[in-house]
Amino acid sequence: KSIVVLLSGNGSNLQAMIDACQEGIISNAKVTAVISNKADAYGLERARKVGIATVHLPAGDYQDRESYDQALAEQIDRFEPDLVILAGFMRILSDKFVRHYMGRMLNVHPSLLPKYTGLHTHQRAIEAGDKEHGTSVHFVTEELDGGPVILQAKVPIFDGDSVEEVTARVQEQEHRIYPLVANWFLQQRLTMKGGKAVLDGETL
Ligand code: GRF
Repeated sequence: KSIVVLLSGNGSNLQAMIDACQEGIISNAKVTAVISNKADAYGLERARKVGIATVHLPAGDYQDRESYDQALAEQIDRFEPDLVILAGFMRILSDKFVRHYMGRMLNVHPSLLPKYTGLHTHQRAIEAGDKEHGTSVHFVTEELDGGPVILQAKVPIFDGDSVEEVTARVQEQEHRIYPLVANWFLQQRLTMKGGKAVLDGETL
């Protein structure tokens, strides 16, 4: 099976997917391409190191979101993905693009959704005095960070924690749960039905 990963930055979640395919946590699948809107995304370098195809698609080359997303979809579809993984891809996606991949595109968002959609989630959780924080893997729908949640992991926030400390704690969990969910999907245990996530026949 083919997994295509979209990212804009470090790519630690990409690395977790690559490692999971290698270690058999994800079975019978591989990351076939990594696509980035940023040329200097370290995730592209991670892909090159292990011989995965990379595509850099700069937003500046396109007139508007529609035409960018069309080009993006063409690039993705060359690799005939069974699953599209958003891993820190820092762009809003058009409705048409989202609909094209509906039910086969996942995202990881660094909060316990529905809390803290959008940016700066760790800082916002710390500033709110939350004792608990975490990350959510969800299907992507037209609503930003609003698609049905599949799996969450919680982490504590301790008094005096820095953003960096909380980020590291959350990312450790992302690297664990995102490959797990990808594997469920690729083993056809997980689907999106009627706007809800269904695992092994149970609505989540
Ligand atoms: C992750 O924390 C994820 O939750 C968010 O973007 C970050 C990407 O990190 N969507 P990385 O590039 O995978 O290291």
